[in-house]
Amino acid sequence: MTHTILVVGGTGMLGEPVARRLLADGYLVRILSRSPEKAQARLGAEFEIVKGDVDEPSSLEAALSGCQGVHLNLQGGFDYDLERRGAENVSRVASRVGVQRITYTSGGSVCEENCWYAGTRAKFQAEAALQVSGVPYTIFRDNYFMETLHNFVQGKMALHIGRHPTPYSWLAANDYARMVSKAYSTPAAANKVFYICGPEVLTMRQALHIFCGIAHPKARIVYLSIRMATIIAKLGKRRELQAALPFFRYCETVKFSEYPAEANALLGAPTTTLEMWSRRHVQGSQSRPQ
Ligand SMILES: NC(=O)c1ccc[n+]([C@@H]2O[C@H](COP(=O)([O-])OP(=O)(O)OC[C@H]3O[C@@H](n4cnc5c(N)ncnc54)[C@H](OP(=O)(O)O)[C@@H]3O)[C@@H](O)[C@H]2O)c1
Repeated sequence: MTHTILVVGGTGMLGEPVARRLLADGYLVRILSRSPEKAQARLGAEFEIVKGDVDEPSSLEAALSGCQGVHLNLQGGFDYDLERRGAENVSRVASRVGVQRITYTSGGSVCEENCWYAGTRAKFQAEAALQVSGVPYTIFRDNYFMETLHNFVQGKMALHIGRHPTPYSWLAANDYARMVSKAYSTPAAANKVFYICGPEVLTMRQALHIFCGIAHPKARIVYLSIRMATIIAKLGKRRELQAALPFFRYCETVKFSEYPAEANALLGAPTTTLEMWSRRHVQGSQSRPQ
């Protein structure tokens, strides 16, 4: 029997690669979206799209019915707590309708001592909701995604925002998506919290240097303190930057955890280096219609 997996947040930057990988691996993939027409246009006819909102449990009942699994990929912008509410509502309904696995995109720095930051607290509480739901879960505490890098390029500048005192194990979304999909066919991945780390450890500056060298050779790397970035975001009414600033402030003090051995052994280690990813990024943007 072909299993159906619901992807909540399947239109997201990190949800879409997971949805596409699940489909490629032979699953039927249903997407929950607040904007079903937009989701269908973005993802295509191979996906079943259902209208829903994690804040409306009645919409989750229909979306989860007949599903063997559900993947949670939520981001609420300024509404950090969305992830907690989403995880609580989805896991409650998932348990009721007999879902057999919940997977969740959490974060590499999630732990109790970092819960002073609202984004981490929401993820920590979301993880806890899954862990008490009675539905077998797989939680992914991911390191820094390469997909974020192009957000830092603004015209001829690549902004290095805030200090990043420790290097990251840069991860490509395609590697991550393969690991999430594999978790569904791996019984030993049930009830596990995995740390997902890419194959190379690089500082933010080194990563920007490699990415820009390949994808934006004319861009100059410019350091922007959090203070300066706050002023620019305010004056320029840059809501996206404003929403991201508390996270950059957080990055100045925390370290992402790196215990990838178990995930790598069970799900296959990530192999994409930043250089490989940057070259693919360039090819992808050249083949996209302008
Ligand atoms: N480690 C890293 O480097 C890194 C980087 C980026 C993100 N992340 C994490 O990855 C996760 C996802 O991020 P992303 O970049 O993929 O997010 P994103 O591109 O902003 O997408 C957010 C998704 O959430 C869905 N959503 C928002 N509100 C919803 C609601 N009320 N009900 C149902 N769906 C809702 C949206 O679906 P619709 O709009 O279609 O409804 C959308 O698909 C977050 O937990 C984030 O913290 C980690």
